[in-house]
Amino acid sequence: MLFVKVVARHAESAKKALRKANMLDNNASVKYNNGYVYFPLCNAASRAGKTPKNFIKSIKGAKLVRMKHSKRHEREGFEGTLKKILTASEAKGLARGYDLLGNIAIIEIDDKLANKEKAIANALIASNKNIKTVLKKAGPVHGVYRLRKLKYIAGEKTFVARYRENGCTFVFDVRKVFFSNRLSYERSRLCNITADKERVMVMFAGVGPFAIEIAKRHKNANVVAIELNRRAYEYMKGNIAINKVGNVKPVLGDVRKESMAYKRYADRIVMPMPKTSTLFLDQAFVVAKKHAFVHIYAFAPADAPFEDVRKKLAEHADEHGYKAKIVGERIVRPYSATEVEVVVDFEITKQ
Ligand SMILES: C[S@@+](CC[C@H](N)C(=O)[O-])C[C@H]1O[C@@H](n2cnc3c(N)ncnc32)[C@H](O)[C@@H]1O
Repeated sequence: MLFVKVVARHAESAKKALRKANMLDNNASVKYNNGYVYFPLCNAASRAGKTPKNFIKSIKGAKLVRMKHSKRHEREGFEGTLKKILTASEAKGLARGYDLLGNIAIIEIDDKLANKEKAIANALIASNKNIKTVLKKAGPVHGVYRLRKLKYIAGEKTFVARYRENGCTFVFDVRKVFFSNRLSYERSRLCNITADKERVMVMFAGVGPFAIEIAKRHKNANVVAIELNRRAYEYMKGNIAINKVGNVKPVLGDVRKESMAYKRYADRIVMPMPKTSTLFLDQAFVVAKKHAFVHIYAFAPADAPFEDVRKKLAEHADEHGYKAKIVGERIVRPYSATEVEVVVDFEITKQ
Protein backbone atom coordinates (compact mmCIF):
# COMPACT_ATOMS: atom_id res chain seq x y z
CA MET A 1 0.00 0.00 0.00
CA LEU A 2 1.22 3.54 -0.73
CA PHE A 3 2.07 5.85 2.14
CA VAL A 4 3.23 9.44 2.23
CA LYS A 5 6.31 9.70 4.42
CA VAL A 6 6.93 13.05 6.03
CA VAL A 7 9.18 14.30 8.81
CA ALA A 8 7.11 14.81 11.98
CA ARG A 9 7.30 18.63 12.00
CA HIS A 10 5.61 18.77 8.59
CA ALA A 11 3.02 16.11 9.46
CA GLU A 12 0.21 18.49 10.31
CA SER A 13 0.38 20.44 7.05
CA ALA A 14 0.86 17.22 5.03
CA LYS A 15 -2.21 15.67 6.65
CA LYS A 16 -4.27 18.74 5.83
CA ALA A 17 -3.18 18.76 2.20
CA LEU A 18 -3.94 15.04 1.85
CA ARG A 19 -7.27 15.34 3.56
CA LYS A 20 -8.24 18.33 1.44
CA ALA A 21 -7.46 16.31 -1.68
CA ASN A 22 -9.45 13.34 -0.30
CA MET A 23 -6.37 11.15 -0.56
CA LEU A 24 -6.16 9.82 3.01
CA ASP A 25 -7.33 6.28 3.70
CA ASN A 26 -9.32 6.64 6.90
CA ASN A 27 -9.56 2.88 7.30
CA ALA A 28 -5.83 2.29 7.61
CA SER A 29 -3.66 3.40 10.52
CA VAL A 30 -1.20 6.26 10.37
CA LYS A 31 2.28 4.97 11.34
CA TYR A 32 5.05 6.69 13.30
CA ASN A 33 8.69 5.66 13.19
CA ASN A 34 11.98 7.36 13.95
CA GLY A 35 10.75 10.94 13.66
CA TYR A 36 8.69 10.25 10.53
CA VAL A 37 4.94 10.00 10.06
CA TYR A 38 3.44 7.73 7.36
CA PHE A 39 -0.01 8.58 6.01
CA PRO A 40 -1.88 5.80 4.16
CA LEU A 41 -3.29 6.77 0.77
CA CYS A 42 -6.74 5.63 -0.21
CA ASN A 43 -7.10 3.10 -3.01
CA ALA A 44 -8.19 5.53 -5.67
CA ALA A 45 -5.11 7.66 -4.97
CA SER A 46 -2.82 4.62 -4.85
CA ARG A 47 -4.10 3.29 -8.16
CA ALA A 48 -3.80 6.59 -10.00
CA GLY A 49 0.01 6.17 -9.95
CA LYS A 50 0.74 9.46 -11.71
CA THR A 51 -1.52 11.73 -9.72
CA PRO A 52 -0.10 11.12 -6.26
CA LYS A 53 3.48 11.61 -7.42
CA ASN A 54 2.78 15.06 -8.82
CA PHE A 55 0.60 15.99 -5.90
CA ILE A 56 3.02 14.67 -3.28
CA LYS A 57 5.79 16.80 -4.80
CA SER A 58 3.76 19.87 -3.83
CA ILE A 59 3.72 18.82 -0.14
CA LYS A 60 6.73 20.08 1.78
CA GLY A 61 9.23 17.32 2.64
CA ALA A 62 6.91 14.48 1.53
CA LYS A 63 7.89 11.25 -0.23
CA LEU A 64 5.86 8.32 -1.54
CA VAL A 65 6.76 4.92 -0.05
CA ARG A 66 5.26 1.44 -0.26
CA MET A 67 4.58 -0.37 3.04
CA LYS A 68 2.31 -2.95 4.66
CA HIS A 69 -0.79 -1.44 6.13
CA SER A 70 -2.77 -2.29 9.23
CA LYS A 71 -6.51 -1.88 9.34
CA ARG A 72 -8.21 0.32 11.86
CA HIS A 73 -10.41 -2.24 13.52
CA GLU A 74 -12.12 -0.04 16.01
CA ARG A 75 -13.81 2.36 13.62
CA GLU A 76 -15.64 1.95 10.38
CA GLY A 77 -14.40 4.39 7.74
CA PHE A 78 -16.47 7.36 6.61
CA GLU A 79 -16.60 6.01 3.06
CA GLY A 80 -17.72 2.56 4.26
CA THR A 81 -20.62 3.99 6.24
CA LEU A 82 -21.59 6.39 3.45
CA LYS A 83 -22.05 3.44 1.12
CA LYS A 84 -24.73 2.15 3.47
CA ILE A 85 -26.48 5.51 3.80
CA LEU A 86 -26.37 6.93 0.29
CA THR A 87 -27.31 5.71 -3.16
CA ALA A 88 -24.50 5.68 -5.72
CA SER A 89 -25.65 8.92 -7.33
CA GLU A 90 -26.10 10.64 -3.96
CA ALA A 91 -22.61 9.54 -2.94
CA LYS A 92 -21.22 11.04 -6.15
CA GLY A 93 -22.77 14.42 -5.40
CA LEU A 94 -21.45 14.63 -1.84
CA ALA A 95 -18.31 16.72 -1.33
CA ARG A 96 -16.05 14.49 0.80
CA GLY A 97 -13.71 17.19 2.00
CA TYR A 98 -14.41 18.85 5.32
CA ASP A 99 -12.62 21.40 7.43
CA LEU A 100 -11.45 19.97 10.69
CA LEU A 101 -10.95 22.54 13.43
CA GLY A 102 -9.91 20.32 16.34
CA ASN A 103 -13.12 18.92 17.77
CA ILE A 104 -15.38 20.44 15.09
CA ALA A 105 -15.81 19.26 11.51
CA ILE A 106 -17.45 21.63 9.06
CA ILE A 107 -19.01 19.98 6.03
CA GLU A 108 -20.82 21.00 2.89
CA ILE A 109 -24.00 19.09 2.16
CA ASP A 110 -26.25 19.83 -0.76
CA ASP A 111 -29.84 20.71 0.19
CA LYS A 112 -30.97 17.68 -1.83
CA LEU A 113 -29.40 15.49 0.86
CA ALA A 114 -30.94 17.42 3.78
CA ASN A 115 -32.88 14.35 4.96
CA LYS A 116 -29.62 12.40 5.26
CA GLU A 117 -27.37 15.08 6.73
CA LYS A 118 -27.65 13.78 10.29
CA ALA A 119 -26.69 10.26 9.21
CA ILE A 120 -23.76 11.62 7.17
CA ALA A 121 -22.58 13.69 10.12
CA ASN A 122 -22.84 10.73 12.49
CA ALA A 123 -20.79 8.65 10.04
CA LEU A 124 -18.11 11.32 10.15
CA ILE A 125 -18.08 11.33 13.95
CA ALA A 126 -17.84 7.53 14.00
CA SER A 127 -14.89 7.60 11.60
CA ASN A 128 -12.62 9.93 13.54
CA LYS A 129 -12.29 9.98 17.28
CA ASN A 130 -11.24 13.65 17.30
CA ILE A 131 -14.50 14.84 15.77
CA LYS A 132 -17.06 15.56 18.47
CA THR A 133 -19.31 17.97 16.58
CA VAL A 134 -20.39 18.31 12.96
CA LEU A 135 -21.60 21.63 11.56
CA LYS A 136 -22.77 22.39 8.08
CA LYS A 137 -21.92 25.45 5.96
CA ALA A 138 -25.19 27.39 5.66
CA GLY A 139 -24.06 30.35 3.56
CA PRO A 140 -21.05 32.10 2.08
CA VAL A 141 -18.36 33.98 4.03
CA HIS A 142 -19.65 37.55 4.23
CA GLY A 143 -19.21 41.01 5.72
CA VAL A 144 -16.27 42.91 7.16
CA TYR A 145 -15.70 40.31 9.87
CA ARG A 146 -15.67 37.52 7.24
CA LEU A 147 -18.18 35.28 9.04
CA ARG A 148 -20.17 32.32 7.77
CA LYS A 149 -23.55 30.97 8.89
CA LEU A 150 -23.15 27.45 10.26
CA LYS A 151 -25.83 24.97 11.21
CA TYR A 152 -25.42 22.39 13.96
CA ILE A 153 -25.97 18.84 12.64
CA ALA A 154 -24.72 16.20 15.07
CA GLY A 155 -22.60 15.36 18.10
CA GLU A 156 -21.89 17.59 21.04
CA LYS A 157 -23.78 20.87 20.64
CA THR A 158 -21.04 23.46 20.65
CA PHE A 159 -19.64 26.07 18.29
CA VAL A 160 -16.41 26.55 20.21
CA ALA A 161 -13.42 24.91 18.58
CA ARG A 162 -10.18 24.00 20.29
CA TYR A 163 -7.71 23.61 17.47
CA ARG A 164 -3.96 22.98 17.40
CA GLU A 165 -1.70 24.23 14.64
CA ASN A 166 2.08 24.46 14.32
CA GLY A 167 2.51 23.85 18.06
CA CYS A 168 -0.05 26.47 19.18
CA THR A 169 -3.60 26.11 20.49
CA PHE A 170 -6.49 28.32 19.43
CA VAL A 171 -9.94 28.47 21.00
CA PHE A 172 -12.73 30.35 19.23
CA ASP A 173 -16.41 30.30 18.33
CA VAL A 174 -16.57 29.32 14.66
CA ARG A 175 -19.73 31.40 14.12
CA LYS A 176 -18.42 34.62 15.64
CA VAL A 177 -14.94 34.89 14.13
CA PHE A 178 -13.10 34.07 10.93
CA PHE A 179 -10.63 31.19 11.04
CA SER A 180 -9.18 29.12 8.22
CA ASN A 181 -6.99 26.09 8.79
CA ARG A 182 -6.06 26.27 5.09
CA LEU A 183 -3.59 29.00 5.97
CA SER A 184 -1.57 26.84 8.37
CA TYR A 185 1.24 26.37 5.85
CA GLU A 186 1.42 30.13 5.29
CA ARG A 187 1.70 30.69 9.03
CA SER A 188 4.49 28.19 9.34
CA ARG A 189 6.22 29.71 6.27
CA LEU A 190 6.14 33.19 7.79
CA CYS A 191 7.44 31.83 11.11
CA ASN A 192 10.38 30.34 9.21
CA ILE A 193 11.36 33.55 7.46
CA THR A 194 10.90 35.91 10.40
CA ALA A 195 14.16 36.77 12.13
CA ASP A 196 14.53 36.62 15.86
CA LYS A 197 14.38 40.23 17.03
CA GLU A 198 11.98 41.64 14.50
CA ARG A 199 9.07 43.93 15.19
CA VAL A 200 6.08 42.52 13.38
CA MET A 201 2.71 44.09 12.65
CA VAL A 202 -0.14 41.69 11.91
CA MET A 203 -3.09 43.59 10.47
CA PHE A 204 -6.52 41.85 10.42
CA ALA A 205 -5.28 39.50 13.12
CA GLY A 206 -8.49 37.53 13.83
CA VAL A 207 -8.07 35.26 16.86
CA GLY A 208 -4.30 35.62 16.55
CA PRO A 209 -2.89 32.67 14.56
CA PHE A 210 -0.23 34.59 12.56
CA ALA A 211 0.73 36.79 15.51
CA ILE A 212 0.85 34.04 18.13
CA GLU A 213 2.70 31.49 16.00
CA ILE A 214 5.38 34.05 15.07
CA ALA A 215 5.67 35.24 18.68
CA LYS A 216 5.89 31.73 20.07
CA ARG A 217 8.66 30.76 17.66
CA HIS A 218 10.58 34.04 18.11
CA LYS A 219 10.65 34.89 21.79
CA ASN A 220 12.63 38.08 21.15
CA ALA A 221 10.30 39.38 18.47
CA ASN A 222 7.58 41.90 19.30
CA VAL A 223 4.27 41.49 17.54
CA VAL A 224 1.39 43.96 17.31
CA ALA A 225 -1.91 42.39 16.21
CA ILE A 226 -4.82 44.62 15.15
CA GLU A 227 -8.36 43.27 14.87
CA LEU A 228 -11.70 45.03 14.36
CA ASN A 229 -14.12 42.31 15.51
CA ARG A 230 -14.41 42.58 19.29
CA ARG A 231 -15.22 38.89 19.68
CA ALA A 232 -12.16 37.86 17.68
CA TYR A 233 -10.06 40.29 19.72
CA GLU A 234 -11.33 38.75 22.98
CA TYR A 235 -10.53 35.25 21.71
CA MET A 236 -7.11 36.49 20.61
CA LYS A 237 -6.44 37.69 24.18
CA GLY A 238 -7.47 34.25 25.45
CA ASN A 239 -5.21 32.54 22.91
CA ILE A 240 -2.27 34.74 23.90
CA ALA A 241 -2.77 33.49 27.47
CA ILE A 242 -3.25 29.83 26.46
CA ASN A 243 -0.03 29.89 24.42
CA LYS A 244 1.83 31.95 27.04
CA VAL A 245 3.17 34.47 24.56
CA GLY A 246 4.03 37.71 26.33
CA ASN A 247 5.36 39.34 23.16
CA VAL A 248 2.05 39.91 21.34
CA LYS A 249 0.20 43.17 21.87
CA PRO A 250 -3.46 42.75 20.83
CA VAL A 251 -5.13 45.94 19.61
CA LEU A 252 -8.87 46.31 19.12
CA GLY A 253 -9.86 48.61 16.27
CA ASP A 254 -9.61 49.56 12.63
CA VAL A 255 -6.19 49.19 10.98
CA ARG A 256 -6.76 52.55 9.29
CA LYS A 257 -6.79 54.31 12.67
CA GLU A 258 -4.79 52.05 15.00
CA SER A 259 -1.79 51.71 12.69
CA MET A 260 -1.17 55.46 13.05
CA ALA A 261 0.21 54.79 16.55
CA TYR A 262 2.92 52.57 15.00
CA LYS A 263 4.58 54.85 12.42
CA ARG A 264 7.99 53.45 11.30
CA TYR A 265 7.51 50.57 13.76
CA ALA A 266 7.72 47.34 11.77
CA ASP A 267 10.39 45.20 10.16
CA ARG A 268 7.64 42.95 8.85
CA ILE A 269 3.98 43.51 8.08
CA VAL A 270 1.42 40.77 7.51
CA MET A 271 -1.82 41.65 5.68
CA PRO A 272 -4.04 38.51 5.72
CA MET A 273 -7.35 39.90 4.46
CA PRO A 274 -7.52 38.75 0.83
CA LYS A 275 -10.79 40.50 0.00
CA THR A 276 -9.58 44.06 0.66
CA SER A 277 -5.95 44.12 1.86
CA THR A 278 -4.76 46.13 -1.13
CA LEU A 279 -6.95 49.01 0.13
CA PHE A 280 -4.67 49.15 3.18
CA LEU A 281 -1.31 49.43 1.40
CA ASP A 282 -0.98 53.07 2.53
CA GLN A 283 -1.09 51.89 6.13
CA ALA A 284 1.63 49.32 5.43
CA PHE A 285 3.98 52.05 4.19
CA VAL A 286 3.20 54.21 7.24
CA VAL A 287 3.95 51.37 9.67
CA ALA A 288 7.07 50.14 7.83
CA LYS A 289 10.59 51.02 8.94
CA LYS A 290 12.93 52.41 6.28
CA HIS A 291 13.56 48.83 5.31
CA ALA A 292 10.85 46.20 5.79
CA PHE A 293 9.13 43.12 4.41
CA VAL A 294 5.41 42.94 3.64
CA HIS A 295 3.24 39.87 3.00
CA ILE A 296 -0.03 40.72 1.36
CA TYR A 297 -2.85 38.23 0.67
CA ALA A 298 -5.36 38.87 -2.12
CA PHE A 299 -8.06 37.19 -4.15
CA ALA A 300 -7.17 37.29 -7.83
CA PRO A 301 -8.28 35.84 -11.17
CA ALA A 302 -6.72 32.42 -11.64
CA ASP A 303 -5.52 33.29 -15.13
CA ALA A 304 -3.58 36.41 -14.02
CA PRO A 305 -3.00 35.91 -10.32
CA PHE A 306 -0.31 38.50 -9.51
CA GLU A 307 -0.86 41.39 -11.94
CA ASP A 308 -3.20 43.50 -9.86
CA VAL A 309 -1.16 43.28 -6.64
CA ARG A 310 2.08 44.04 -8.51
CA LYS A 311 0.54 47.14 -10.08
CA LYS A 312 -0.97 48.48 -6.83
CA LEU A 313 2.20 47.79 -4.95
CA ALA A 314 4.33 49.72 -7.45
CA GLU A 315 1.93 52.69 -7.34
CA HIS A 316 1.90 52.88 -3.55
CA ALA A 317 5.65 52.43 -3.20
CA ASP A 318 6.16 55.35 -5.55
CA GLU A 319 3.75 57.59 -3.66
CA HIS A 320 5.46 56.86 -0.35
CA GLY A 321 9.02 57.27 -1.70
CA TYR A 322 9.93 53.59 -1.32
CA LYS A 323 11.56 51.18 -3.70
CA ALA A 324 9.68 47.85 -3.74
CA LYS A 325 11.11 44.53 -4.78
CA ILE A 326 8.95 41.40 -5.02
CA VAL A 327 10.77 38.55 -3.27
CA GLY A 328 8.08 35.86 -3.45
CA GLU A 329 4.73 35.08 -5.05
CA ARG A 330 2.60 32.06 -4.28
CA ILE A 331 -0.89 30.72 -4.93
CA VAL A 332 -2.17 29.91 -1.46
CA ARG A 333 -5.33 28.03 -2.44
CA PRO A 334 -8.10 27.93 -5.01
CA TYR A 335 -10.95 30.18 -3.91
CA SER A 336 -13.67 29.73 -6.52
CA ALA A 337 -13.97 28.33 -10.02
CA THR A 338 -12.22 31.40 -11.43
CA GLU A 339 -10.37 32.90 -8.46
CA VAL A 340 -7.40 31.99 -6.31
CA GLU A 341 -5.96 33.40 -3.11
CA VAL A 342 -2.39 34.61 -3.57
CA VAL A 343 0.33 35.94 -1.35
CA VAL A 344 2.95 38.39 -2.53
CA ASP A 345 6.06 38.95 -0.39
CA PHE A 346 7.89 42.19 -1.00
CA GLU A 347 10.83 44.08 0.40
CA ILE A 348 10.60 47.86 0.63
CA THR A 349 13.40 50.37 1.09
CA LYS A 350 12.98 54.11 1.66
CA GLN A 351 14.59 56.15 -1.12
C1 LIG B 1 -9.74 36.98 6.55
S1 LIG B 1 -9.79 37.34 8.25
C2 LIG B 1 -8.15 36.87 8.76
C3 LIG B 1 -8.06 36.53 10.22
C4 LIG B 1 -6.74 35.94 10.68
N1 LIG B 1 -5.61 36.71 10.26
C5 LIG B 1 -6.60 34.49 10.26
O1 LIG B 1 -5.76 34.19 9.42
O2 LIG B 1 -7.33 33.66 10.79
C6 LIG B 1 -9.75 39.08 8.26
C7 LIG B 1 -9.94 39.70 9.65
O3 LIG B 1 -9.78 41.10 9.55
C8 LIG B 1 -10.72 41.75 10.39
N2 LIG B 1 -10.88 43.10 9.85
C9 LIG B 1 -11.65 43.49 8.78
N3 LIG B 1 -11.50 44.81 8.56
C10 LIG B 1 -10.60 45.26 9.46
C11 LIG B 1 -10.02 46.52 9.72
N4 LIG B 1 -10.35 47.61 8.99
N5 LIG B 1 -9.15 46.65 10.74
C12 LIG B 1 -8.82 45.57 11.51
N6 LIG B 1 -9.33 44.32 11.30
C13 LIG B 1 -10.20 44.16 10.30
C14 LIG B 1 -11.95 40.86 10.32
O4 LIG B 1 -12.75 41.04 11.45
C15 LIG B 1 -11.30 39.45 10.27
O5 LIG B 1 -11.14 38.92 11.54
